[in-house]
Amino acid sequence: MKAYHQYINGKWTPSTSKQTFVSSNPAKKSEVLATFSQGTHEDVEHAVFAAEKALPFWKNTPAPKRGELLLEVARLLRKNKQKLGELVTKEMGKVLKEGLGDVQEAIDIFEYMAGEGRRLFGHTTPSELKNKFCCTVRQPVGVVGLITPWNFPFAIPAWKLAPALICGNTIVFKPASDTPLCAATLIEILEEAGIPPGVVNMVTGSGEEVGNAIVMHRRLRGISFTGSRETGEFITKIAGLKKIGLELGGKNAIIVMDDADIDLAIEGILWGAFGTTGQRCTAASRVIVHKSVQKQVEEKLLKCVRKLKIGSGLDSKTDVGPLINARAVVKTHKYTEIGKKEGARLLCGGMPEERGGFFYKPTIFTNVKPHMRIAREEIFGPTLSILTAQDLNDAIQIANAIEYGLSSSIYTRNINNAFHSIENIEAGITYVNASTIGAEVHLPFGGVKATGNGTRESGILGIEEFSEVKTIYIDYSGKLQKAQIDTKKED
Ligand code: UN1
Repeated sequence: MKAYHQYINGKWTPSTSKQTFVSSNPAKKSEVLATFSQGTHEDVEHAVFAAEKALPFWKNTPAPKRGELLLEVARLLRKNKQKLGELVTKEMGKVLKEGLGDVQEAIDIFEYMAGEGRRLFGHTTPSELKNKFCCTVRQPVGVVGLITPWNFPFAIPAWKLAPALICGNTIVFKPASDTPLCAATLIEILEEAGIPPGVVNMVTGSGEEVGNAIVMHRRLRGISFTGSRETGEFITKIAGLKKIGLELGGKNAIIVMDDADIDLAIEGILWGAFGTTGQRCTAASRVIVHKSVQKQVEEKLLKCVRKLKIGSGLDSKTDVGPLINARAVVKTHKYTEIGKKEGARLLCGGMPEERGGFFYKPTIFTNVKPHMRIAREEIFGPTLSILTAQDLNDAIQIANAIEYGLSSSIYTRNINNAFHSIENIEAGITYVNASTIGAEVHLPFGGVKATGNGTRESGILGIEEFSEVKTIYIDYSGKLQKAQIDTKKED
């Protein structure tokens, strides 16, 4: 079995702890895939030092040249796509077509950000004084820390690495401890593409030790984190004055109106709620259905859910793979118990499925009320809550009655309903006649309210998190000109 170490200054280096941990296949509890170094704050120190040393060279490399490296990474990801997709499925559990989608999303963002190397636009604007030129340019933030979750083990690291690299930052990267093999494989690809030593450093290990050391490090200038709300809030408390990007939880709703194409809505609900076994921050965990079509929606949904096949994601017949680990099964089941106690009605599922992995049956509750915990808290499992709406305004009000604000969706054939929802749903993303998942990399991704701190990833805004804007004034008048004061002078 392969033993991976920390990747520091272009070398695979054993941790100062000499301790290791393993990564295993969630569909087969006993299958261990590889071992990894248990990182320490000293490892983080070494990684920061290497990243600082590499910074002058990398930030002075012309951005289009940095883009060439990103393109090479994309090419290698594409070349190995099948193998990498299988690796995602093996280490994280999602079904193979989604594993391949995860890799494709990583390819897309590396390609997109490679092109950004020829843009990285600043802007110019006239001065209030004569013979004076004003503009802005983008500069890297510096050494930045990237902390990523396990649910998109290639795509989310890529969403952060690609913009951070194109903007000229150097990096200390801590991947999730549930999917370090995908992360290490991504590092191997960066190596093969020719990333200079120290530009990207990876430290594997626990959040308490490695994560905290990164977030609190005085010489890191930025942190980009995707994960739970609790950890995100903790980061804002301990990070100090850094540029921080947070992408946290969701409790995303699909509204189904009485004029909707119901069959289309059912497909969207199934895909949004049970795709990736509900382990997406954009997963549809609530359906808010117009009272006049509720019975129909529930019956059709139930019929389809009963047909979903649970199993290993590598099996082509599987619709729903395992949860990531034993804790996730316990958490999902805890919410089933909470839902029952709160008085919601369990329509299907509600228990683990014994098959030698961390499986849980797709679970649907109906008669869910907006105040219930299963309607407000992120479960991150295959649990869907159905709530009833009297009309569109009621549906929007229910959709907004949560602390999160990431994704949202409405199924309707009425254009007025659609625009009304787009305007009034409190979320960073609204889909019309499509599910809550499936963001594309050339559009901004992120949420409002407790989903984050207002930053956006990917798309044109994806570079904001990883660049600082410098304002430049060039006075070519040859004399002292005072802004605000000398504006009325003749020459
Ligand atoms: C996440 O769940 O953390 O739109 C990100 C989507 C994916 C990204 C989800 N492309 O669902």
